[in-house]
Amino acid sequence: MLQPIAVDLKSLSNGLADAQSIAIGFTQVSKNPELDEKPEFAFPSHLNLIEKLEETFEIDLRDELAFFAATGKAGEIFEVPVSSNLFAADRILLIGLGDETTSAIRQAGAALGRKGRGKAVAIASLCVSDEEQLKAFAISVQLGAYIWNQKTGPTQEIPLFLFHTENPEPINAASVIANAISRTRDLIHTPSNIKTPLWLADEAVKIATDSGLEIKVLAGKELAEFGGLRAVGNSSPKPGPRFVEISYHPKGKKKSAGILPHVVIVGKGITFDTGGVSLKRPYEFMTAMKSDMAGSAAALGAISALPHFQPQVQVTVLMMLAENALSGTSQRPSDVITHYGGKTVEVLDTDAEGRLVLADGLAYADINLNPDYLIDIATLTGAATLGLGRQHAAMYTRDEKVAKSFSEAGERSGDRVWHMPLVDDYKEALESPIADLSHITSKKHFSAGSVTAALFLEHFAGDRTWVHFDIAGVARSESDSGENPKGGTGFGVRLLIEWLTSLS
Ligand code: BES
Ligand code: MN
Ligand code: ZN
Repeated sequence: MLQPIAVDLKSLSNGLADAQSIAIGFTQVSKNPELDEKPEFAFPSHLNLIEKLEETFEIDLRDELAFFAATGKAGEIFEVPVSSNLFAADRILLIGLGDETTSAIRQAGAALGRKGRGKAVAIASLCVSDEEQLKAFAISVQLGAYIWNQKTGPTQEIPLFLFHTENPEPINAASVIANAISRTRDLIHTPSNIKTPLWLADEAVKIATDSGLEIKVLAGKELAEFGGLRAVGNSSPKPGPRFVEISYHPKGKKKSAGILPHVVIVGKGITFDTGGVSLKRPYEFMTAMKSDMAGSAAALGAISALPHFQPQVQVTVLMMLAENALSGTSQRPSDVITHYGGKTVEVLDTDAEGRLVLADGLAYADINLNPDYLIDIATLTGAATLGLGRQHAAMYTRDEKVAKSFSEAGERSGDRVWHMPLVDDYKEALESPIADLSHITSKKHFSAGSVTAALFLEHFAGDRTWVHFDIAGVARSESDSGENPKGGTGFGVRLLIEWLTSLS
């Protein structure tokens, strides 16, 4: 939990006095080993307050840092035991802020968050004062503290982080964003025996209702026109696929909403991806596939935060929820399906299921919702991970301006994206002799699996300004480090909130 506090220099009261730990950010300002210079340390934020604490605790923090041979690297932490009858705190946490860029500040925040993981402690932070950086820092603190498991035994507690700031707004904003990411992560971590499309639709109803958003869920016969969603989702007919539509309008703007830009975000929501009849191989790849709904969870997380920020845009999220199972009702490689809007597609590999459910969502949006921006977000291809690794999502769009605005929103928010080419020369790869399109390239020499997947989706986006995010590489972390636990990262929530709130 994140909370702002304002500390009065004279009385040092207000939360600071009760916290079990006090975190202080430091940097190393100069060190020239050739001249045998001693390192010097600085406390770039809240210096007066820190000096006051040094007096109260009768401690010299620079000496402590020299003793620890601190380097100031972002996220480096030293614990100094302290005591004073004015304060509950029994330790000061000295946290390296690196070069104080926002990305270093995020690393430091994640490291602080990890210190509080699972504990019922209150930690007060005097690490950052710049308001933009404070927001980023606080989000990373909560991300670092995040845990998810279904262990029985003693309950894991939730730490409380208090941030000294004159203006509570950055912390309130951070709290809304971090909670949205945490909820998204919870959904991704939930195993697929629990997380059926019905379960995920029900969670979406809870989250939307909590946030004051409108929501509608379609199932069964109502999905007659959604040929892609049905072809994939009927492999697991009980409870079968779901289509979820959630909408946000700024307060009081509903009637004049026509003048606001309308953004539609379509999310891939495969609750488990076995690959279907084209069974995923090697089988070890399958265990990560409970995360294959991360795109729809990120879109849900992002829209749930909008009522707090009230951006002057209309936003609709479409969650395409289905399980890609192996069963007697699975689709077959060679089937031809009819998507929403009527395009026919030859299915050659049932493991390329994500694009089939997204195609319906994009066509539905193009035909019914008149979007000014049509966005999709999906854990779509292993190829995106091979190409870009785990730091950038692959972004596809023909609109250079939008690409730039997303790249910038990515840098600001910490969810980074890389603009990839839609290579027209590869279009012929998706030609089918028997249907309007094939959903994958049967001609192996094309490679570029993430690009050809994007080219397939583009056929369903009409003439809209369309942006596709392939988040296969970033939606899941294989190690527990920095901001990320092992498992769902919640990638996309910060990016979409940042972009949507900067649009108006
Ligand atoms: N969900 C997978 C993509 C994926 C792979 C996400 C690894 C996260 C980590 C997707 O449905 C898939 O199976 N894609 C295939 C497409 C291929 C059959 C054309 C892939 O990338 O191998
Ligand atoms: Mn697949
Ligand atoms: Zn998939």
